[in-house]
Amino acid sequence: MQRIKFNEYQKEVMDVIGEGALLTVKYGDKLNTMTIGWGSIGVIWGKPMFTVLVRHSRYTHKLIENTDQFTVSVPLHGQLKEETDYCGTKSGRDVNKFEELGLELIEGQELNTPFIKNSDIHYECKIVYKQDMNPDLLFDEDIRSKYYPQGDYHTVYYGNIIGAYKE
Ligand SMILES: Cc1cc2nc3c(=O)[nH]c(=O)nc-3n(C[C@H](O)[C@H](O)[C@H](O)COP(=O)(O)O)c2cc1C
Repeated sequence: MQRIKFNEYQKEVMDVIGEGALLTVKYGDKLNTMTIGWGSIGVIWGKPMFTVLVRHSRYTHKLIENTDQFTVSVPLHGQLKEETDYCGTKSGRDVNKFEELGLELIEGQELNTPFIKNSDIHYECKIVYKQDMNPDLLFDEDIRSKYYPQGDYHTVYYGNIIGAYKE
């Protein structure tokens, strides 16, 4: 693992994030990873920030609500396709994704949440703020009706990027 600047691969990561990155969360002895297709890397409060969105219905939501950290592992070259498909459709409530897929882990460097091996770029993030979406304040109606017909809104987690790495 080679440390990189938080924004060194920002363009490459944002180019492929829609195909799936892996958001890994640990709470006590419970570990889970799920596919994310949205997220952003930027600067907020003068700090490097990875922002991710997790719907209330996800098992990941249950775990991340009980911790202060997460990691994001990004395959840049289409590898781990079967894994991101699986982790984007199966729930950690029902299966152990690590056992089912034989996923290998890399230990966290600064925090104690691991990364998913064989990705290219990894971020470890400390949650400094979170916000439940509140459609009553303002929400573009086209977006709201397209993505939230059942009202399964996201919580947005702001993860201060403590470490960024190239595998
Ligand atoms: C390409 C792709 C991108 C996804 N992006 C997100 C996302 O950004 N946020 C989210 O809540 N769910 C997203 N999902 C859905 C979750 O990955 C899926 O519901 C998963 O089974 C949840 O796992 P869990 O219940 O173990 O947390 C995405 C799925 C795919 C296939």
